[in-house]
Amino acid sequence: MDDTDHPVVESGKDLLRFLTCGSVDDGKSSLIGRLLHDSRLIFEDQLSALARDSVRHGTLGDQIDFALLVDGLEAEREQGITIDVAYRFFTTAKRSFIVADTPGHEQYTRNMATGASNADLAIVLIDARKGVLVQTRRHSLICSLLGLRHVVVAVNKIDLVSYQADTFDRIVVEYNAFASRLGFSSIMPIPISARYGDNITSRSEATPWYRGPVLLDYLETVDVETEALAKPFRFPVQWVNRPNADFRGYAGTLVSGTINTGDPVVVAGSGRTTSVKQLLAYEGPQTSAEAGDAVTITLEDDVDIGRGDLLAGPADRPEVSDQFAAHIIWMSDQKLMPGRSYLARIGTRTTPITVTGIKYRIDVNTGNHLAANTLGLNDIAFCNLATGAPVAFDPYDQNRKTGSFIMIDRLSNHTLGAGMIAFGLRRGTNIHWQATLIGKSERATQKRQRPAIIWLTGLSASGKSTIANMVERALHAGGYHTMLLDGDNLRHGLNRDLGFTEADRVENIRRVGEVAKLMTDAGLIVLCSFISPYRAEREMVRGLVADGEFIEVFVDTPIEECARRDPKGLYAKAKAGTIKNFTGFDAPYEIPQSPEIHLRTIGQQPEQLAEQLLRTLAELGIAG
Ligand code: ADX
Repeated sequence: MDDTDHPVVESGKDLLRFLTCGSVDDGKSSLIGRLLHDSRLIFEDQLSALARDSVRHGTLGDQIDFALLVDGLEAEREQGITIDVAYRFFTTAKRSFIVADTPGHEQYTRNMATGASNADLAIVLIDARKGVLVQTRRHSLICSLLGLRHVVVAVNKIDLVSYQADTFDRIVVEYNAFASRLGFSSIMPIPISARYGDNITSRSEATPWYRGPVLLDYLETVDVETEALAKPFRFPVQWVNRPNADFRGYAGTLVSGTINTGDPVVVAGSGRTTSVKQLLAYEGPQTSAEAGDAVTITLEDDVDIGRGDLLAGPADRPEVSDQFAAHIIWMSDQKLMPGRSYLARIGTRTTPITVTGIKYRIDVNTGNHLAANTLGLNDIAFCNLATGAPVAFDPYDQNRKTGSFIMIDRLSNHTLGAGMIAFGLRRGTNIHWQATLIGKSERATQKRQRPAIIWLTGLSASGKSTIANMVERALHAGGYHTMLLDGDNLRHGLNRDLGFTEADRVENIRRVGEVAKLMTDAGLIVLCSFISPYRAEREMVRGLVADGEFIEVFVDTPIEECARRDPKGLYAKAKAGTIKNFTGFDAPYEIPQSPEIHLRTIGQQPEQLAEQLLRTLAELGIAG
């Protein structure tokens, strides 16, 4: 919540963070407006402007339409913020509140998840006329996955169903039936009218049958254990502060627990232990710090610590693994592809991550587990994941801060999804690298060459295989040790279970990349000829080998020319519609943005193109 502009909380008064969720038009804005107003947070001049506006635009005669107030603020905030969550602060005699107002459109799962990850309680709004909707279920499921334990079911617009008890009861029964498996520790249903103020701050005379608390009283008194302090000490290192050779401090914010000078600490990843020498806060040196405090920590010993490391107490360490199972909430139109390399930000660390398997997708309506090969916008699934390097984490149900991560697109840097870690996978912690006595450089030196992956990408029939063959023959004749991997050939063996959907192509290239990498470990120059239509996978293979070892060759032939050549008759079939997902027709080809070698084939003979490629390899010091 550091990024919000709420006033400083009055000390001593406790704080409740909650969010409102529901579908569009359920009345969230009106509810928040009403709460703000009834706790006298609106300044008088704002109120009179609102009264004027309501008369002008409102639909309520001369009643004030509170939705206008909040929607107005939202429009201002929308500029320049990608995640559209508006935080508001208000305070009563008993408690202070921070409320996250999240938009309710179906595609706004991302905002909803952002608001929920910081909240203690959710107000799930339900329109009394509509009852429990898909979004109600989806939002409740997300709240549960994000660790919220307390829910208020605000059955709104009760005035529009003539304040009927049985409508309210029916909705409550339906909600409880659905929510019983979500693990909430409290569910409080309240019939309200945000518009007219029924049961918001005072008891409504129109609902004599309702005997529970009114909303504000409940929010002021509900007991939500503030957990962060009680949890074990966790400190993700944000940056290393090293102004001169004599000082080295680790700056960051305690996400949970407390720490004192002299306490022992462990660097979770390396297992190195030392103890705290100093705790430096903005105000100066301190003897202790607690969850939420921003401090710089200095240590007694000189240990290797960098940004992204996690400091913890030696007696209560986080898990460390490069494989784990997690719930994923996917928030992008771009589908999640198992095997595709994304970036994960977990705490202050950023690392490559892939989904190694989708165990199941969750049907938000029934809670049933469904099979899935990919995930689309708003899908929620339980997956196995692998990171590029071991990461320190806690299971999400033990620590929401150290157990969650976001997934980011490697090229655009957009947030694609959020993850909540369930547990580390044994195979991640128990499989270690076996050190080999002879390494890549020994093997390559014996062959008197520099290993490399020469990756030819381009449309089907663009000329990749022809050129790759010519180049290999020349290298071979020159005494180099080579191997040629070709799409059509590998699809007869290693990859014979794969077709041409996006997911299958991702997996095709993942396997080929791993094989090519092993071959460079053997010291070989590996020529790879694959359409490889997606940038993400080509970049993933690049990342598998050392800098300069991946040479991307774009075999650039216009599709009309490929279709004219059509050596395998596939373009004719694609035109006739008898094969599906054909690259260039109904499947995309993402052209390389900065290939090491760009071969424009029009007007050139294959021999000339092979020559050009060989010349560049010589310039790059690989062969020739
Ligand atoms: S990739 O897209 O996953 O990299 P790969 O290079 O292995 O593809 O295989 C492409 C070859 O498979 C083409 O040269 C073509 O002969 C054949 N093929 C069969 N169906 C398709 C299709 N739908 N799209 C592209 N190539 C296809």
